[in-house]
Order: sequence, then C-alpha cells, then structure tokens
Amino acid sequence: SMEVNRNRLAADIDLTENAVAVLKKRYLKKNERGEAIEEPIDMFLRVAGNIAEGEFRFNEGEEAKALYEESRERFLQIMLSRKFMPNSPTLMNAGRELQQLSACFVLPVEDSIDGIYDTLKHQAIIHKSGGGTGFGFSRLRPKNDLVQSTMGVSSGPVSFMAIYDASTDKIKQGGTRRGANMGILRVDHPDVEEFIECKRENDQINNFNISVAITDEFMEAVEADRDFELKNPRDGEVIKTVRAKDLFRKIVEGAWLNGEPGVVFIDKINGDNPTPQFPIESTNPCSEAHLPPYDSCNLGSINLEKFYREETGDVDWDDLRETIHTAIRFLDNVIEQNNYPLPEIDKMSRGNRRIGLGVMGFADLLIKLGITYDSNEGLAFAEKVMKFVDDEAWEESRNLAEERGVMPNFEGSRHEMRGDRVRNATVTTIAPTGTISMIAGCSGGIEPLFAVAFMRRQADMEMPDVNPEFVKIAKERGFYSEDLMKKVAEHGSVRDVEEVPADLRSVWVTSHDISSEWHVKMQAAFQKYTSMGISKTINLPNDASVEDVEAAYMQAFATNCKGIAVYRDGSRDAQVLSTGKTS
Ligand code: CDP
Repeated sequence: SMEVNRNRLAADIDLTENAVAVLKKRYLKKNERGEAIEEPIDMFLRVAGNIAEGEFRFNEGEEAKALYEESRERFLQIMLSRKFMPNSPTLMNAGRELQQLSACFVLPVEDSIDGIYDTLKHQAIIHKSGGGTGFGFSRLRPKNDLVQSTMGVSSGPVSFMAIYDASTDKIKQGGTRRGANMGILRVDHPDVEEFIECKRENDQINNFNISVAITDEFMEAVEADRDFELKNPRDGEVIKTVRAKDLFRKIVEGAWLNGEPGVVFIDKINGDNPTPQFPIESTNPCSEAHLPPYDSCNLGSINLEKFYREETGDVDWDDLRETIHTAIRFLDNVIEQNNYPLPEIDKMSRGNRRIGLGVMGFADLLIKLGITYDSNEGLAFAEKVMKFVDDEAWEESRNLAEERGVMPNFEGSRHEMRGDRVRNATVTTIAPTGTISMIAGCSGGIEPLFAVAFMRRQADMEMPDVNPEFVKIAKERGFYSEDLMKKVAEHGSVRDVEEVPADLRSVWVTSHDISSEWHVKMQAAFQKYTSMGISKTINLPNDASVEDVEAAYMQAFATNCKGIAVYRDGSRDAQVLSTGKTS
C-alpha cells in the first residue's frame, strides 16, 4: 500500500542531522502551532507528485497517467538519492497553496513615478512568495535632472534603490526566506560614482548586492587610458567626462574594501542572450541568472559527488546522463506547474522557458578522484564535466521540443537563427546552492571546500568540526589523532600541516589556499559550457592589495567570464563561517 511504500522509502533516506534540522525549520509543512506535520519523505513525495502533474498539460487519458507515474517515480528517485535538488522555493512550495517555485526574478524600473512604485509593489509580492529580485536602475534619469510635470528635480537611482531596500526590511518572505535583491547601474550612467560608494558604510542598503554593468567600450577605454562619457539615459546628453582608469579604480577599491560593487559584463551577457528580442539589464541577487525584465528562472542542481564509483575510480557517466535528462524534464515541468506572482512574469517565463541546471559537490568529487582544484587537471576536469552536463541538457531540451513544442518565444531567438529547435532559452546555470547543498550534504556549487575543519562553538566549548570524509581517510591511513584534528581546525587548511601525507595535502584544498587567479580560472572554465551565469566567490587573503583585486577583474573580463564578485577575507564585519585562522 501507499503507507507501506512511504515507510520503506523513509527508512532509506540518508540525510545528515544538519539537513533534517534545516528542513524542519523552514521547509516542512507546519500546523498552526508551528509543529512540523511532514517528515522529509513527505516533502519529497509532495514535490515529485506535484511536478509530475505537469505531464497532464501535454497528454490525455491513459497515456498521461502512465507518463505521470513514470515521471513521479523518476523525480522521486533523483531527489531521494540526493543526486538532484531543485531550488528552495520548489522544495518549500510545490504541492502547497502558494505553489511559487522560482528562486529569482528581474523587474523593470521605468523612468516614471508610476513605474518605480508599481515595481516596488511587485517586489513586495515576490518577496512574500519566497523569491529574490534583481533590478536595472540605468533607465532612471540622474540626480538633479529636471522633472517636467513639477519643474522639480529627480533624486536619482540610488535614492530609489534605498526605498526598495527599506521596503524589503518590512516584508518577511513568507516566514521562510529573507528578501534578497540585486541592484545594477550601467558604468556610463551619470550617478555611477554615487552608486559605487552607496554601500561603503557596512550598514547601508543591506538587502541589496550591487553590481556595475560594465560595457566593452568602457573596458577598451580603461585599457587605452582614455576619457569616458557619462550620459543622461533620457536623451544621451553628456553630463560628465571622466578618466576611465579612475572610475575603474573606484569600483575596484570598493570591491577591495567590502566586496561591493561586483561587476557584470553586460555586453558579453547580451551578446550571448538567447532571446535578444528581450534585452538584459540585470541579474538575480547572486548574479548567476541573466534575465530580461519580468523573466524568472527555475534552478536545480546535480550533486556530482554521488556519481563517483569506487569500483572504477571514475564517474558513472551513464547514470549522470540519465539524471541530467530527468532533471531537465523536471525543470520544464516546474515552468508549467508554477504559480507566478504577476501576469507579466507568467507570460515571459512560459514564453522563454529559462531553466538553470547546475552542479554542486564538485569539490567533493575532485577529492574522491584525487584531482587538485587549482591545477590544470582540475580545470580540464571542470570543462569535461560541465560540457557533458550542458550537452545532455540541450539534448533533453530538443527531445522536449519534439514532444511538447519549441519555446513560445522561439521566433526571434538565437536558437531559431541557428535552426536549433529547443524548448528552453537556457538550460544551465551554476547557483550558489547555499541551502540545497546542505540538504544534499555536499560542498556548495563549484566552490572549493570552505575548510577541512573549523572550530565550532558548541555548548560553550570550542570543538573542532572536521569533514567526515577526512576523518574516515585519516583513520584508514593511520594518522588520525584528536590533537591533529584540532591543529587542522586551527589552521583551517591542511596544506602546511606536515603530519598529513603529501598526496592528501595537495587534494584537500580550501578556498583560502587557492589564489584569486585560480578561482577566476575555474569560473571561466565552467562559464564556457554554461548557458547563463556562474555563482562563484573569488576569495582573496586579507592582505591582498587593490592591485590584486584589479588584476582579478581584468582577468575575468579577458577570459570571458560574465561578471565577477570578490571577497577579501575579513573585509566584512560579520562572516557567517569562519576558520580558526581568521576568527
Ligand atoms: O540553495 P537554495 O536553493 O536555497 O538557493 P541558492 O542556490 O543559494 O540561491 C539561488 C538564488 O535564490 C539566489 O541567486 C537568489 O536569487 C535567490 N535567493 C533569495 O532570493 N533569497 C535567499 N535568501 C537565498 C537565495
């Protein structure tokens, strides 16, 4: 019976204590008293069933029922085995009243009071439903520009961003997620200098990440040390001329100081925009999704570590292929099953059908394969695995186009120009996987390990929290001792701990061991085979110079990254996690 089946499946789920705690706190259905009335197994059954119902939109009768049963089983299996997780809103909301399944949205900001305040309301509606929002402020007239109807002057993009920020504070995201925003301003906007500095003080505009949209023209001016014009977006009037190098320096200094602003290379993004009929002016909060106004993105990630096979010492490519195909069908169904927060978003999302399959557990897999993250072998493996994911994802999108039709906005798309009949504008995106990697129990996204071990305060005691795989290996190879684990936790890294065998020291690397140059190299390797963007933090040591940050930004541009965000260790007051070394 159903109940017996449920209990059998429940017994097989293998979730860490942390994963169960996160699910209980924010993902499982609760009663009025705030007690969880679902177990993790019920959540996975709810999500698999609801997303499989998408099959009824394209088929009828017995055929539809058979497809539904098959999809439900496949969707369930890839989640229960922790090979795949959809983004948090899908886990939380599928099969429930809200049914809002997307992680991210971009809204337009029109140069009018009506436009600005309509979007403010739309932002609140989206945050309430658990989604994040991105905005391009570049169409707003600059500060002190004339307002015709009142003969007054405009207060400019930064002041309106502050209003969106204040509103975010007031909206608790359905009680589950804090509202997150991205604010973007073009480098040729007259208010760009004010924008660059608007987060200098750490307590300002806290609900926003900010990025400068850098153009190719600007980068050419920087490289040739030329002047650069800042223009009123309303009529193209030149308001100010600056030395491009000085402006670039301001951006980089801000990034050095506290990580803000990041940059996005907006011409590269639009150059690869599969739907050029809808130009892109912003990204989502963590900047991996490049979306035109009113578009959304449904994300999901494959846990690569799960495809390692001890018998062969290699990846099970057949299993990976099958999982990718199932995941793409899952995400295309999400687009159907989604209850979009606005009619404009409904139309754009169904029309473009942007989905973003990404990977997580990449660092865990490298360790199992014995490959060093910051090595040419590491880069080559990154390209190999991501090319495989991207190729197979497109293959499934073509299959779906045959079965269900090409995307409604196919006409005018870059896919049409190439004669490539696909069902989705994009198929791959690398998300941060902040929470779902914790649920899956793997390393986040394509990031290296944060630490092999770190000191954790528990019940008023400082205890070393060591990666369980590392503990296992240490015991197997006979170098385990509590003192050594403590030493590793205090160092954060094992690279310089001589008691650890040399082959392990080169493979068990952490973010802090890796130079910014190698971080950018890895981002560029993944970007080659990703249809949207990459979420990646470029870590720098605390003593890194402004020139180091500048070099990283230049390298990212030169190697065709779509943007860059750096983090200099210790440069923000509150770090979520911290290794012994820095805390
Ligand atoms: O792991 P999870 O599915 O929870 O999310 P993620 O991969 O860390 O973040 C994916 C995207 O969700 C981000 O880029 C944001 O657009 C959005 N997000 C948000 O709006 N609010 C949050 N608190 C976390 C993520």
